[in-house]
Amino acid sequence: MKFFIDTANLDQIREAQELGVLDGVTTNPSLMAKEGITGRNNILKHYVDICNIIEGDVSAEVIGTEFEQMVKEGEELAELHDQIVVKIPMIKDGVKALKYFSDNGIRTNCTLVFSVGQALLAAKAGATYVSPFIGRLDDISTDGLNLIAEIRHIYDNYAFETQILAASVRHTMHVIDCAKLGADVMTGPLSSIEGLLKHPLTDSGLAKFLADYNKGN
Ligand code: E4P
Repeated sequence: MKFFIDTANLDQIREAQELGVLDGVTTNPSLMAKEGITGRNNILKHYVDICNIIEGDVSAEVIGTEFEQMVKEGEELAELHDQIVVKIPMIKDGVKALKYFSDNGIRTNCTLVFSVGQALLAAKAGATYVSPFIGRLDDISTDGLNLIAEIRHIYDNYAFETQILAASVRHTMHVIDCAKLGADVMTGPLSSIEGLLKHPLTDSGLAKFLADYNKGN
């Protein structure tokens, strides 16, 4: 399972990279705005800065909603760095753009996916990654994890190569449940990854080992 971090915050990306288990970064326009990164040139530079911190895939989102705009923007984003994956929204022109990029060797992440039908279309169009937003489904009292299970089932039926990128992961149990369900990737905040570390018996066990060691020294 690949671990992506869902942020545009360079300090957090560095911290996750230093942990040694980071496989990629996802961003979106809201995450960029949260870090105060605005304006096309600043945003493009920020993507390159992220690529220079990590070794894995960095999703960079197009803003256009029409096919020609998405192709132009996506090609510009892909030119920035080998690690860039072009993030395309699940809309009609987005499906056409996914197919165009797939035919032209540009990797894509189909974003804003909330149903199995959308995930099936993204795979048919050749998306590299599909991003079902599980946290946002949970927010409206729908079962986000069930969507991961259904997409896994359908993709396995037909051996689709599109990777399931569980997005909008909010906490550590989401990560564990997505792993059980066979999601290929998860993207979430640093806290969702660091939560995997924690167990009170580890802390108390280590404290006892150190105390016992110190008795003899
Ligand atoms: C995915 O690529 C999105 O950036 C992200 O996971 C959205 O998560 P949110 O619902 O926490 O905003």
